[in-house]
Amino acid sequence: MDKVFDKAPDKPPDKPADKLNRAVVFLGPPGAGKGTQAKELARKYGVPHLSTGDMLRENIAQGTPLGLQAKPIMARGELVPDSLVLKMVKQRIENADCSFGFVFDGFPRTVAQAQYFGELLKRCGYKQPLVVHFAIDPVLVIKRITGRRMCKVGGEIYNIFERPTRVAGRCDNDGGELEQRPDDREEIVAPRLAAYARQTAPLVAYYRRLGRLHDVDAAQPVEEVTRRVLEIVRGIK
Ligand code: AP5
Repeated sequence: MDKVFDKAPDKPPDKPADKLNRAVVFLGPPGAGKGTQAKELARKYGVPHLSTGDMLRENIAQGTPLGLQAKPIMARGELVPDSLVLKMVKQRIENADCSFGFVFDGFPRTVAQAQYFGELLKRCGYKQPLVVHFAIDPVLVIKRITGRRMCKVGGEIYNIFERPTRVAGRCDNDGGELEQRPDDREEIVAPRLAAYARQTAPLVAYYRRLGRLHDVDAAQPVEEVTRRVLEIVRGIK
């Protein structure tokens, strides 16, 4: 079932000789830049970029039973129940294409998800994850979220303030139409940030205690964040 969840890479990977060989998790509040950086890192290493948000949106678009359950929850800016997310994740990372590593953005998002993920990696014979924490003042992410636009075709991420397209409303890569995510409306941003603070932020301490957490200043420009993420990943490998 799972191929459908992956967006086609818009550029070929860099030299595939450099293998990732582990799970990298991007942890941080909505709008911190996790998706932007996850696409780039996955492309560099030629491994899958997995996003539970994208998987859920794909289920909504296809009208699957999971999508029907998730839709009203996501529209309110709340987290989808662990039981639904974990089943979806298990199916995905058991796919053979994850065996050389993968980049996860938006998962795990609760301590229960992190515990399950750790067990699942062990059972699959993978190393425990390297976790990159995107640290940023919540005030800064509001402008990023409300300005975000995504390509309907390839999923490329833009921003009307920070990263505009050459032609308004059209993707630079494939000319696809840009759209705003329903949960990027200003009134949904506050509940999303509250859900992060209540349910996801405790993972920072959880992974720090395990010695797996590496901080990145996510308020820096995109290129600087990419440089720092690569430094961490290369330093650990
Ligand atoms: P999800 O899709 O995961 O969204 P999110 O975590 O809220 O994160 P975002 O996608 O909003 O932000 P991002 O950090 O990826 O930022 P981006 O790179 O796009 O989740 C959506 C919903 O699905 C959740 O609310 C929940 O309901 C459900 N869900 C998903 N996973 C779940 C789970 N595990 N458990 C339960 N429920 C789950 O960048 C944002 C903008 O900023 C862009 O416009 C970009 O161009 C710009 N930008 C990026 N970096 C920079 C930079 N350095 N400087 C300036 N601008 C930048």
